[in-house]
Amino acid sequence: MTGGRVAGKVALVTGAGAGIGRAVAQRLVAEGARVVLGDIDEKALDAVLDELGPEAAAGRRCDVTDEADVEALVALAVERFGGLDIAVANAGGGGSSELVAHDYAQWRRIVDLCLNGVFLTVKHAGRVMTERGGGSIVNMASLNAVQAGRGMGAYCSAKAGVVALTEVAALEMGRHGVRVNAVAPGLVRTQATGPMWQLPGVVEEYVENAPLGRFAEPEEIASVVLFLASDEAGFVSGSLYGVDGGARTGRYPDLIGAFERMGRE
Ligand SMILES: NC(=O)c1ccc[n+]([C@@H]2O[C@H](COP(=O)([O-])OP(=O)(O)OC[C@H]3O[C@@H](n4cnc5c(N)ncnc54)[C@H](O)[C@@H]3O)[C@@H](O)[C@H]2O)c1
Repeated sequence: MTGGRVAGKVALVTGAGAGIGRAVAQRLVAEGARVVLGDIDEKALDAVLDELGPEAAAGRRCDVTDEADVEALVALAVERFGGLDIAVANAGGGGSSELVAHDYAQWRRIVDLCLNGVFLTVKHAGRVMTERGGGSIVNMASLNAVQAGRGMGAYCSAKAGVVALTEVAALEMGRHGVRVNAVAPGLVRTQATGPMWQLPGVVEEYVENAPLGRFAEPEEIASVVLFLASDEAGFVSGSLYGVDGGARTGRYPDLIGAFERMGRE
């Protein structure tokens, strides 16, 4: 396609094999971008690449916690499509444990994936964009960056770190024409959150606390990412965009309480 809100741009998306990342990749292509996609799940990644086709999409296995992988994904964008205008540091995931019982290795895995992986993407995408004189980076934070949840210490800490990282990156890269923003989704129905539907009362608690009275689909996050990535957001940098149906105004579901209730049933 020749038209579209990101027509002619080259975009990179991490964690693009499923969920929000896949929806972002699909939306960017629908709006005229060519995309380079990374994921650790090669089968899922191949399915997305097949769907989008070789004219619009290329990809490779990329573990965002491995610096060489991230550097290679950025290089692929430049080699294959001649540049890099948009980077979406989307890959992330969680795990649940109260702090006093938290396994340190699990803590490090969550922080490594959710925060260090975003840092590596910002570093290598930002390096190309600052050299080329412009670009837009969108980092995937979470409602949990600004709203605590019992049992979510590692995830909340890492996602809050993403917000701080986004602000520093915006501050450092702005003079090179690079905008850096973050998105904070509330509850979105994806494979990552599938288990929350099995926990008694958790989704109901989210829905009760969200003024819009529902959870989101991945496409609703993708449309805000698209806006931030596009030139329509040309004066937006260092911002955190909540996409949570207003859930920030309430309280986060009590996952530990739900585990306890499930244990009693
Ligand atoms: N789903 C939600 O409710 C929700 C809410 C707030 C924030 N988020 C954030 O949105 C992002 C995407 O979440 P999702 O729900 O779409 O998850 P998902 O599990 O549906 O998809 C995540 C994708 O990332 C890939 N991935 C996992 N580890 C990776 C790694 N080390 N390197 C590269 N890819 C990796 C997975 O293989 C998968 O394809 C995450 O950062 C998550 O924390 C999700």
